[in-house]
Amino acid sequence: MAQQNWSPTSWRDKPAQQLPTYKDSSALRAAEEELSRMPPLVFAGEARNLQTDLAKVAAGQAFLLQGGDCAESFAEFSANKIRDTFRVILQMAVVMTYAGSLPIVKVGRMAGQFAKPRSSDTETQGDVTLPSYRGDNVNSLDFTADAREPDPQRMIKAYNQASATLNLLRAFASGGYANLTRVHSWNLDFVENSPLGEKYQGLANRIDDAMRFMAACGMTPENVPALRETSFYTSHEALLLPYEEAMTRTDSLTGDWYDTSAHFLWVGARTHQADHGQIEFVRGLKNPLGMKCSPALSPDELLRLIDVLNPENIPGRLTLIARMGHHQVEEKLAPLVRAVKKEGRSVVWSCDPMHGNTMTSSSGYKTRPFEHILGEVRGFFNVHRAEGTHAGGVHIEMTGQNVTECVGGAEAIGDEDLSSRYHTHCDPRLNANQSLELAFLIAEELKASRVLNTQSFAQQTPPAAAE
Ligand code: PEP
Ligand code: CO
Repeated sequence: MAQQNWSPTSWRDKPAQQLPTYKDSSALRAAEEELSRMPPLVFAGEARNLQTDLAKVAAGQAFLLQGGDCAESFAEFSANKIRDTFRVILQMAVVMTYAGSLPIVKVGRMAGQFAKPRSSDTETQGDVTLPSYRGDNVNSLDFTADAREPDPQRMIKAYNQASATLNLLRAFASGGYANLTRVHSWNLDFVENSPLGEKYQGLANRIDDAMRFMAACGMTPENVPALRETSFYTSHEALLLPYEEAMTRTDSLTGDWYDTSAHFLWVGARTHQADHGQIEFVRGLKNPLGMKCSPALSPDELLRLIDVLNPENIPGRLTLIARMGHHQVEEKLAPLVRAVKKEGRSVVWSCDPMHGNTMTSSSGYKTRPFEHILGEVRGFFNVHRAEGTHAGGVHIEMTGQNVTECVGGAEAIGDEDLSSRYHTHCDPRLNANQSLELAFLIAEELKASRVLNTQSFAQQTPPAAAE
């Protein structure tokens, strides 16, 4: 059933935050028209497959791994960078599948993650004040008046980059790169000799053994597609509504509306007011949706937003991405989880351990302590174990590059190291080693939760009736 009183343009009658002001409205219209004639990037059937996969997560039978850059950029665009992020996501997934024994639903913050919400509309350096950088599909990071002027043609460039990125991701996912006989080759050179690289090699050896056993039983990548290819989905924040509207089309099979810019769209912590443009826009889409939950969100507001975004309570439709901060995740998340459970709402609970743990280092860099990130993930699992709900996934900012943006981890990156390889266009990302370390921690938590579930199931199972 289509959402009532909704159209791809109905957001235009609502207030909306974080949208750029374009000087030339006819140039904006021309770019929107051009985009609306472009081929879709994803297909409705793929978005439906993701929703089916997410329904399994909601039911506690799978785990969601969503990750990628905070902001993709035109400058950092290269085939190797896409490949490296993809392979770290594959490594994380294989660690969690093997050690945590759950299928992993893989979603990249990739192929469209360009638009950024900002805490201030302007940025001041010295005595110069300019519009804030809002992501490469809006303006440029350079601090000049020209660069910061929103340019609608950037949406076309972003579309083309997203299209090329997605093309490569599809090839990697189904063209042999994800073949499980290649687990060893996913280790990146700089990871190979690190403690995490070695831990990963140990796990890859065990997978090799399992593959040899299966081959002896007649199951090989040639005759079992799941061993040679994987599903990989794309996602980004539904922020820049002129772009998202232009990419929204009706599915010829069902007549439903899909935003064909990505499989999954989420609404950020700054723009999820129930009566504002971003929520209005996404509520009419049939794509699976996400919404960030910040510490300020009350259980009542959350339930109201769930009513708007998933009135039919469809499993897999809505993923709630909690980003509370390590020091208050248990206190702030538990009341939300409890309210959602009490009202019988089906959601996927995912943990973003990045955005509540950002700080400025003594050297002046925006960073995130790895210990705080791990702490928030542990707290997230604790809440779900206590409430009897499924800790469904993680949402992280990460890269396959050997960057120094988050402090800590096995390589003990310190404040003084941040300047050496700090490349992000927005927030600090986990590097490949830190991402793998996080994956091993999640696998442990998944294992611990499974043991607990099995025990509580055994306790609930009534004794067999006496004959
Ligand atoms: C983000 O995910 O990049 C982001 C801006 O997060 P949040 O909306 O949770 O602050
Ligand atoms: Co971010």
